[in-house]
Amino acid sequence: MSKKVGFGIIGIGGIGSGHIIRMQSINNVKLVAACDIAPQAFDHIDSGIRENILCTTDYEEFFNCPDLEAVIIAVPHYDHPDLAIAAMEHGKHVIVEKPIAVHKAEAMRLIAAAEKYPELVKSAMFNQRTLAVHRKLKSMIDSGEFGTIRRVNWTITNWFRSQCYYDSGDWRATWGGEGGGVLLNQCPHQLDLFQWLFGMPESVWAYAAIGKYHDIEVEDDVNAFLRYADGKTANFIASTGEAPGTNRLEIMADRGKVILEDGKISFIRNEIPADEYCRTTSSRFGMPPTWDCQIHCEKDTMPQHSAIIRNVAAAIRGEEKLIAPMEEGINGLELGNAMLLSGLTGETVNLPMDPVRYAAILSQLVATSKRPPKKVVQTADEDYSASYKI
Ligand SMILES: NC(=O)c1ccc[n+]([C@@H]2O[C@H](COP(=O)([O-])OP(=O)(O)OC[C@H]3O[C@@H](n4cnc5c(N)ncnc54)[C@H](O)[C@@H]3O)[C@@H](O)[C@H]2O)c1
Repeated sequence: MSKKVGFGIIGIGGIGSGHIIRMQSINNVKLVAACDIAPQAFDHIDSGIRENILCTTDYEEFFNCPDLEAVIIAVPHYDHPDLAIAAMEHGKHVIVEKPIAVHKAEAMRLIAAAEKYPELVKSAMFNQRTLAVHRKLKSMIDSGEFGTIRRVNWTITNWFRSQCYYDSGDWRATWGGEGGGVLLNQCPHQLDLFQWLFGMPESVWAYAAIGKYHDIEVEDDVNAFLRYADGKTANFIASTGEAPGTNRLEIMADRGKVILEDGKISFIRNEIPADEYCRTTSSRFGMPPTWDCQIHCEKDTMPQHSAIIRNVAAAIRGEEKLIAPMEEGINGLELGNAMLLSGLTGETVNLPMDPVRYAAILSQLVATSKRPPKKVVQTADEDYSASYKI
């Protein structure tokens, strides 16, 4: 096997310290360094691991760690682009935690910077792409197994969060610290899967309730309606206030109905495709006969986050294609931004959305936030569209 890839992590909080534990059992990576602005964060690292790696609050010392080849950015959202760019400037491969940025203009800036380093591997931590059920669903959609997709409904409300959760970090659920709520923190995985499976819609309309269930500045309940150029429509429903919640994806297609729920795919397959039956039957109220199909999925061979880290290390050694290229992170982010923009303005948002306008609106919200960001968000007087081709 090729030499293990030397990894470092910036941000040793909830997820960063989890990545440290999982790295111990990934066979192609070796943790060499950890960085955090808060020195007490290193107390989260098991002493047996800590004494064998560099732990530092100094970025330069971290980036210059001799065996460091790749960096995971696991800090609060606003700092993702700057730290990922700093890592690339130091010649390091990157995995950026989700979301890759708070808003589209920032993602464009990150992607434009990344284009200068074609030799580096850049991934997003879209760990849910590694799940066997999601990979199976994608391969079945891409192969045309379901026929034309007519409608998609995804209800993802099993993200229940208490007030105590929101109070656990001063950056959480603030415009200045987090830049959004359920769409930016909990749902980036489903928004990424949505665009990965179904592509990008041409317009989005949404109701996005601010602090409906919690004392927070940002949205915690969203109902969105998406229209696609091919005539498909979709509903995306997300909430952190419902218990018990639901995670159910329904796909209505010509060939039948597909449901992904509780980690299982069920497919009620029309023996005759719905459009053909509709055109040819002489029955006024009949429906196509159906088969109940069991969709077999392979077992997941490792935990999701580990699968992304292992894949990135293999891509660095030229052994595998990336599962979640960082650049693709702009799509799910744009979906979330468009839902929020629609919720805030009441407008239907056409895609590709105007990143400058969204940034300007977010800037205004940040100005009212109890938690101003360390860095002011990109504002309307900077136009990034020239440096990015959609
Ligand atoms: N992929 C997933 O399943 C998943 C799960 C949870 C969180 N996340 C993402 O991981 C990121 C971090 O979330 P968390 O829950 O671990 O947050 P957290 O608040 O628990 O930890 C963040 C850590 O980053 C440090 N930090 C903050 N700013 C820093 C900076 N500029 N430089 C260095 N260190 C800095 C803090 O001191 C803290 O230790 C977020 O983007 C979040 O959305 C992803």
